[in-house]
Amino acid sequence: MNSMTLTNTEIRDYLHGKNDTELFAAADRVRREVFGTDVYLRGIIEFSNYCKQDCLYCGLRRGNRSVRRYRLTTDEILECAGEIGDSGISTIVLQTGEDPWYSDSDIAEIITAIKSQYDIAITLSLGERKKETYQLWREAGADRYLIRLESFNEKSYSDARPGTVRKDRLNCLETLRELDYEVGSGIMIGLPGDTVDDVVIAIRDLTAMHLHMIGMGPFVAHNQTPFAEETNGNVDIVLRAYALMRILNPTANIPSTSAMESARPGGRMRGLQVGANVIMPSFTPKRVKELYNIYPGKNVQQDIDEDGLQAALAMIEKAGYNISWARGDSPLKGKCSN
Ligand code: 5AD
Ligand code: SF4
Repeated sequence: MNSMTLTNTEIRDYLHGKNDTELFAAADRVRREVFGTDVYLRGIIEFSNYCKQDCLYCGLRRGNRSVRRYRLTTDEILECAGEIGDSGISTIVLQTGEDPWYSDSDIAEIITAIKSQYDIAITLSLGERKKETYQLWREAGADRYLIRLESFNEKSYSDARPGTVRKDRLNCLETLRELDYEVGSGIMIGLPGDTVDDVVIAIRDLTAMHLHMIGMGPFVAHNQTPFAEETNGNVDIVLRAYALMRILNPTANIPSTSAMESARPGGRMRGLQVGANVIMPSFTPKRVKELYNIYPGKNVQQDIDEDGLQAALAMIEKAGYNISWARGDSPLKGKCSN
């Protein structure tokens, strides 16, 4: 398989399962050439489950009155950050829904405080914001930003995200890149209304964006949303998308996401074997963790903390890879201005 010449038809055929053995082996070969067997860790803090948006697929949507909402204080966030720093992990991800309760300068102060204490990369996943805000956070020390495009089908995007415009999200990515963040984007696979052809377009267009990070996971129906009765995304298609993305984007950091595990036990481990090279254990405090319930199964309390660090470490070893404590900056950083 020659990665440079994958046509749309070939991408489509692979997504339909034309030859998983060949596809997965090729993806793992590429990941080993670039990263060896290393898997990078990102400790994530989900510090608020409030969101002003109303995305039809998401359990945190503002229209969901059944969810108990929480916000961590600055001190609590810094405490979690300390746990991540002390564990030896070299990247902290700060994620919330779009919650305007924290001012731009509150977030900047959190970033500065973390950076002054730990030699650690900070990734933000805080949704659509103004350029000035992104700039303030970058100047405070944030290194990376994640903002998924969610779907490349205009209609399912606007149906599923009322009151938002896809172009705004593309502009955010553009701005983040101008501000010299490492940028990450991606999609949900199997969103109601999407087809495999939309995934082909997503794979092609995301590749053309030369992203530093690419995050993908299956849509998982949440029973407190308007999409409660919809069918979950197909995990096999997501695995194929991981593999294709690895082949087409050899240096991208690609997480195997927790939605994989929610949709199919063992899915997250399988993701590592078909091209993904990043795992994001959750450091959200136990007492609120299960309230960050974007999709069913996400952060739901069990005897073993499936989303936590210990489970992640065991899983990486079981998958046959090496736990890396390095920052895992993008090999593309500074080399590609796109
Ligand atoms: N199923 C799977 N993923 C979801 N997300 C939101 N809702 C769902 C769902 N029901 C994803 C979105 C978002 C990320 C934080 O979680 O892609 O960007
Ligand atoms: Fe909010 Fe993100 Fe959920 Fe949409 S997907 S409701 S923006 S947390």
